[in-house]
Amino acid sequence: AKIDEEPRSIWCHYWILITLLSFFLAGSSVLGAEFGPLPDNITVLEGESVTLRCRIDEEVTHKAWLNRSNILFTGTDRWSLDKRVTLVNTSNREFSILIDKVQVTDEGPYTCTFQANNKPRIAHVYLIVQVPARIVNISKSVSVNEGENVNLYCLAVGRPEPTVTWKDQKFGMVSEGEFLDITEIKREQAEDYECITHNGVAPPDQQKVRVTVNYPPMITEIKNQPGYLGKPAIMRCDAMAVPTATFEWYRDDHRPVENDNTLRIKNEKTRSLLLFTNVTEKHFGNYTCFASNRLGSSNASMLLFRPGALQGRGAGLHPGMSASLCIWVSLSAVLLVKV
Ligand SMILES: *[C@@H]1O[C@H](CO)[C@@H](O)[C@H](O)[C@H]1NC(C)=O
Ligand SMILES: *[C@@H]1O[C@H](CO)[C@@H](O)[C@H](O)[C@H]1NC(C)=O
Ligand SMILES: *[C@@H]1O[C@H](CO)[C@@H](O)[C@H](O)[C@H]1NC(C)=O
Ligand SMILES: *[C@@H]1O[C@H](CO)[C@@H](O)[C@H](O)[C@H]1NC(C)=O
Ligand SMILES: *[C@@H]1O[C@H](CO)[C@@H](O)[C@H](O)[C@H]1NC(C)=O
Ligand SMILES: *[C@@H]1O[C@H](CO)[C@@H](O)[C@H](O)[C@H]1NC(C)=O
Repeated sequence: AKIDEEPRSIWCHYWILITLLSFFLAGSSVLGAEFGPLPDNITVLEGESVTLRCRIDEEVTHKAWLNRSNILFTGTDRWSLDKRVTLVNTSNREFSILIDKVQVTDEGPYTCTFQANNKPRIAHVYLIVQVPARIVNISKSVSVNEGENVNLYCLAVGRPEPTVTWKDQKFGMVSEGEFLDITEIKREQAEDYECITHNGVAPPDQQKVRVTVNYPPMITEIKNQPGYLGKPAIMRCDAMAVPTATFEWYRDDHRPVENDNTLRIKNEKTRSLLLFTNVTEKHFGNYTCFASNRLGSSNASMLLFRPGALQGRGAGLHPGMSASLCIWVSLSAVLLVKV
């Protein structure tokens, strides 16, 4: 619009056109060599400012800066409407421009052209705008059931185009690319997966995604325990489960075990304890630990047995067996050994 308004612009356009034409006709290498120290390209980070320098001769009659084919300045006349572009250090030796808060769209060829001694001169500089690699969209932490497939994504931007890798700390596995697909996930694969993006411009950007794998309880450890009359005893039931299991205890005939003044149930994250404060006859027997979560359940049985007499054969203890008979058996055994 500005070009049409001002008659001068038409003249300018002609001049620039002629300059460029003569430049191309004359051959770039010769003229380029004559020019001030304009490097082939300048690299700048997005958001920073950059000065494009142009050294000029003293007998310069016309001069201009162009962004691609758009005029930015002719002499000290501003053509660009972009306030970020200003002339700096203008003198009869230098004709430089400053671009403030460089944007990605500023990338491209810039041209300084002038006329001295009736000869056109031209210099090109290619502005490269870099952007640090940055993760812009990444999967949320997920919770799946064992055996399901997991698809994670991590989208990154940056200039130059960044690399994206997925890494897991547990197995040291590295996977290239924005997508990480895990088929039929196993419970051991539950962990934090880290997405790392890098393009050499700035330190890598990284973010973690937590993958939770749910599975039904699996009782890992049970042990028959000896019970000493008048002494405390502990029975424990360990269960691995995600989400954590809730525990219940049953006695011989599936009676639920309840807290009382001699027995306390203590539930922890991955286990449940039966705490006997003072073992008495009524406590001996078969205890079943039942662990469950929303994916399923598991149970295991263990004995609180009399030390000595019934050890090893504890499994045969029937609920119906009377306490007196048991004592009798124990005593007999003790007596026999003594005699
Ligand atoms: C202007 O030139 C002087 C001397 O050459 C230099 O120190 C200064 O940084 C320049 N200013 C800009 C904005 O380029
Ligand atoms: C250069 O030109 C491009 C495309 O024409 C434009 O988007 C950008 O803002 C310009 N940059 C400057 C510094 O003039
Ligand atoms: C993030 O990427 C995913 C997968 O490509 C897409 O479905 C989702 O809409 C994106 N979210 C945002 C906020 O861009
Ligand atoms: C354990 O219980 C028995 C019977 O109830 C009692 O005689 C004994 O004092 C108790 N022992 C302890 C250490 O509390
Ligand atoms: C205990 O586990 C066995 C298999 O180990 C199963 O057959 C039984 O039904 C379970 N009992 C309960 C109460 O879940
Ligand atoms: C304990 O009880 C469970 C469940 O009633 C039964 O399956 C198991 O055989 C019993 N164990 C012993 C040693 O009696």
